[in-house]
Amino acid sequence: MIRLCFVCLGNICRSPTAEGVMLHLLRQEGLQSQVQVESAGTAAYHCGERADSRSRAAARQRGVELPSRACQFQASDFDRFDYVLCMDSSNLQNLAAQAKGNQRQKLHLLLDFDPNSPKGRNVPDPYYGGQHGFEEVLDLCFSACHHLLQFIKQHHLVNQD
Ligand code: 4NP
Repeated sequence: MIRLCFVCLGNICRSPTAEGVMLHLLRQEGLQSQVQVESAGTAAYHCGERADSRSRAAARQRGVELPSRACQFQASDFDRFDYVLCMDSSNLQNLAAQAKGNQRQKLHLLLDFDPNSPKGRNVPDPYYGGQHGFEEVLDLCFSACHHLLQFIKQHHLVNQD
């Protein structure tokens, strides 16, 4: 079992979208029993809330459900996950400051798995903007999660094809 955690600031827009998109792709490929997916925020403002209604509406238009309830990333979560996929460099720096020893190696920017994105690119925060931002988050998550899943299949699920 490979365990992924997507992380953003509030855990109500970007990381729940990445989580829902990855669950959708895993179901399409019949791999949901082999890859566990969760999400979390670096902040606790929205703990317990469902994903933002604008994120859920945009995702539903593409056949993607966002099942998460917001929670804050805990230092102990580093041991629960193999890959901690940050939506932006501020989220990554925040977690890097909490990481000990080889936990640092679990931290990645999600878009660094996407060959279509330049290295170091952030998923822009859509919270204070319009509908376009939520569509852009979905576009970026679909592309990056597709490539992340290919990477995981190659490196961890080599006997499964
Ligand atoms: P997210 O977006 O990090 O993609 O979930 C945000 C959600 C809430 C806030 C900021 C960003 N906020 O300031 O409440």
